[in-house]
Amino acid sequence: MQFDVIIIGAGAAGMMCAAQAGARGRRVLLVDHAEKLGERIRISGGGRCNFTNRSVSADNYLSQNPHFCRSALARFTQHDFIAMLDKRRIAYHEREHGQLFCNDSAEEIIAMLRDACVDAGVRWAMPCAVQGVERLANDAALPWRVLTDQGAFRSQSLVVATGGLAIPKIGASPFGYQLAEQFAIPVVPPRPALVPLALAPELLEPLKPMAGATLDASASFATAAFRENVLITHRGLSGPAILQISSYWQMQEYGSGKKRPLEIDLLPGIDAGDWLEGQRQGRVHLPNLLAERLPRRFAHEWCALVGGDKAVNRPIGELGRRDLEHIASQLNAWSLMPAGTLGFAKAEVTLGGVSTAALSSKTMAAREVPGLYFIGEVVDVTGWLGGYNFQWAWSSGWVAGQFA
Ligand code: FDA
Repeated sequence: MQFDVIIIGAGAAGMMCAAQAGARGRRVLLVDHAEKLGERIRISGGGRCNFTNRSVSADNYLSQNPHFCRSALARFTQHDFIAMLDKRRIAYHEREHGQLFCNDSAEEIIAMLRDACVDAGVRWAMPCAVQGVERLANDAALPWRVLTDQGAFRSQSLVVATGGLAIPKIGASPFGYQLAEQFAIPVVPPRPALVPLALAPELLEPLKPMAGATLDASASFATAAFRENVLITHRGLSGPAILQISSYWQMQEYGSGKKRPLEIDLLPGIDAGDWLEGQRQGRVHLPNLLAERLPRRFAHEWCALVGGDKAVNRPIGELGRRDLEHIASQLNAWSLMPAGTLGFAKAEVTLGGVSTAALSSKTMAAREVPGLYFIGEVVDVTGWLGGYNFQWAWSSGWVAGQFA
């Protein structure tokens, strides 16, 4: 069967692209190996899909080329997506940091995109396993041949929207990366991102009694810092501040230098040195003082971990100046070296992917392979937590839908 455009991957980016290309009058086929449509949208945001953010800019994304995403984000903005929801009368609400969620269910977004595809005459092959892709150099009109368990399909354009590797059990596959490599397009090695961090046993053991503690803290690495909750878990660290900083910590994987720790400011906005100095005259013990600003159990265990027995048992006034300085510096910059991440099984997104150097930021087309496009998470553009990854999927999908 012949089409103008074949899109592999009927997720967020793929459906957006299909609806746009179809609306231009292109004959579009959407191919996906999953049984259920839009599974990643369905489970996102606790079933309510954090579909975008009030404020979106290139600063909210990580990539080897941090400017690449600008063009697509400017051409199909968060306001454009919100307008689609308004038109469909899907109710939504705003949470902290400008995050927008459906009031009722993520299913409403899946239905909106599915209906947009149906209205645009998009055809579906789903579930459908792709066995191979060929480019026939001698057929300029229909160069693409996609071999599937439902037969061979031919097209003029091929759009790859197969997403990243996070949560393999809901259909993630390395297909997009392999296809890029088949056509000599470089791939920035995929790494788990927005992911909980593991700690080595020697660090985990003393932290274990604190498992379950939630801290209002600021996690930082290099120039990035996020003030949100940090959660101590039985395997290491999690919570929004850690998920956010994990993506930056993972960027080190692409460098050659020694790995560096991340820092947690347990008293954001407070100069711990000044604060402790002001308490030196009293008889208060450090764990009790810290319990004014941190969970009591955490305060106790943390003092023992960082300051030893004397920090727990002696009043602050009896601690030496150097001990207090050390404790103060750790309070504002607790230095922790993760042993790694909890991997793709627990990650929300993938860092890395198809190199933006090989793509046009205006069209999402591969520069050297005519008629081949990459959109969404398969590309080396990774958003912060907070609706940014879906916005990238909508924006890049929309842009490719104008050209494919
Ligand atoms: P997406 O993964 O949506 O779609 C890819 C499609 O390709 C899938 O349908 C898959 O079945 C198909 N596919 C893969 N390999 C294939 C193959 N070999 N053959 C055929 N089909 C194939 N983001 C956000 O902004 N807000 C949020 O609230 C959340 N929440 C969230 C929760 C959880 C648990 C996860 C794992 C992720 C999120 N995200 C998120 C991230 C967001 O879901 C993600 O960035 C987008 O879905 C990416 O859209 P894509 O269309 O690129 O891939």
